[in-house]
Amino acid sequence: MRVFVIYGTIEGQTRKIARAIAETAQDKGWRATVYDMNDLAEADPAHADRVIIAAPVHAGDYPREVAEWIKANRLRLKAMPTAFVSVSLSAASQFAEEHEALDKITNAFFEETGFAPNAVHQAAGALRYADYDFLKRLLMRYIARKEGASTDTTKNHEFTEWDELARFIADFLAPA
Ligand SMILES: Cc1cc2nc3c(=O)[nH]c(=O)nc-3n(C[C@H](O)[C@H](O)[C@H](O)COP(=O)(O)O)c2cc1C
Repeated sequence: MRVFVIYGTIEGQTRKIARAIAETAQDKGWRATVYDMNDLAEADPAHADRVIIAAPVHAGDYPREVAEWIKANRLRLKAMPTAFVSVSLSAASQFAEEHEALDKITNAFFEETGFAPNAVHQAAGALRYADYDFLKRLLMRYIARKEGASTDTTKNHEFTEWDELARFIADFLAPA
């Protein structure tokens, strides 16, 4: 059985998450093929039994490349089991309203693209302060303070719960 892992990334955390998804899939006996948002023209879901899409939230939205691929393959995706892994800072927030706002962003994306995944996971991403330029570091520190995340800009912070992600993927890929 073959699973496609389709992902977009701006800062690299969703690439790490896509690779972890593929590893879990392989551990469960699946053949996993991973496609970055720049190679999506090659990704034909007709060649997969299931599809997992992972995408990060940046300024309240997901990457356009991923949205366009979903739209172009909407009918095929509707006819097969699919899962969506959303990656964001809000998923790590201690505030309920941040999670509600995040659900709105995810649902607006589903509405816009016509995507109706069978399973959705809200994964926490990372704050890569050390890799940001001055302005981005300032902006992310401001957002982090609002969300109750670390404002220590002297190091990077990873919030992804890897065991939770692996459980979600194993459940999604379990035999029906
Ligand atoms: C410029 C910028 C804007 C962001 N905007 C949001 C946002 O609107 N909501 C949110 O929850 N997280 C936001 N984040 C946090 C990212 O979702 C998080 O850093 C994630 O790990 C990025 O994934 P990537 O490394 O795959 O691009 C933002 C991050 C950056 C750098």
